[in-house]
Amino acid sequence: MNNNCIGIFDSGYGGLTILEKLKEVMPNENYLYYADSKNCPYGDKDVDDLINITTNIVEYLIKNNAKIIVIACNTATVKCMKYLREKYKNINFIGTVPAIKVALDNNYQNTLVMATPGTIKSERTFELINDNIRKNQKIYLEACPTLAEAIENKKWDNVDNIIYEIYNKYIDKNIDSIVLGCTHYPFATKYINKYFKDIICIDGSLGVSNYTKKVLSDNNLLTDRNYKGNIKIINSNDSGE
Ligand code: DGL
Repeated sequence: MNNNCIGIFDSGYGGLTILEKLKEVMPNENYLYYADSKNCPYGDKDVDDLINITTNIVEYLIKNNAKIIVIACNTATVKCMKYLREKYKNINFIGTVPAIKVALDNNYQNTLVMATPGTIKSERTFELINDNIRKNQKIYLEACPTLAEAIENKKWDNVDNIIYEIYNKYIDKNIDSIVLGCTHYPFATKYINKYFKDIICIDGSLGVSNYTKKVLSDNNLLTDRNYKGNIKIINSNDSGE
């Protein structure tokens, strides 16, 4: 048993989509969420930059007694998780990757994966496709260089335009599922479904949350609190961290 907090971070508010699910799955835990809005977007930053940025955040979360760290960001996961696990051997890291396996296991035939350029180009994305794709299934990869930032800054007209352009590009592809491979994108579901009508959007939040609970449980780190935990949110724009 351990009553310390679960540390979470993202390049801004996108990871709140993961935090919300974590809270549903483990309501009695305390959460410390680090929103790195100052460095948003992560999507087109190079690995060295991202390693520096995420190392500082991890140091902050460890200093604040995080018992596990959830990287609520696909880009940071595919680019930095290996490095962070190697550097902080005593900390359990939980990553977030595009839910490509979920779409393929559910037998969708034409899946559109939307993510940042960093995630789309990553080895992990190709592994997820190659390990799970079956005959007759198609995956379309769409790098969205400006979408996360538009969502972060609540520029909803831009979000609408970006989605409309993507829709036009795939209009004749019979898309039957969309993987939201960036934790900011669930906030744009309304715009996605405006054009891709009745098409299921799949994100990784439930998988990440269930897996976090399993790792905590396997390591005897779940809280024994029998009332709701609290949530603290820090933003790098305010904290000077
Ligand atoms: N929310 C992040 C992700 O899941 C990154 C968005 C960005 O900063 O580019 O990839």
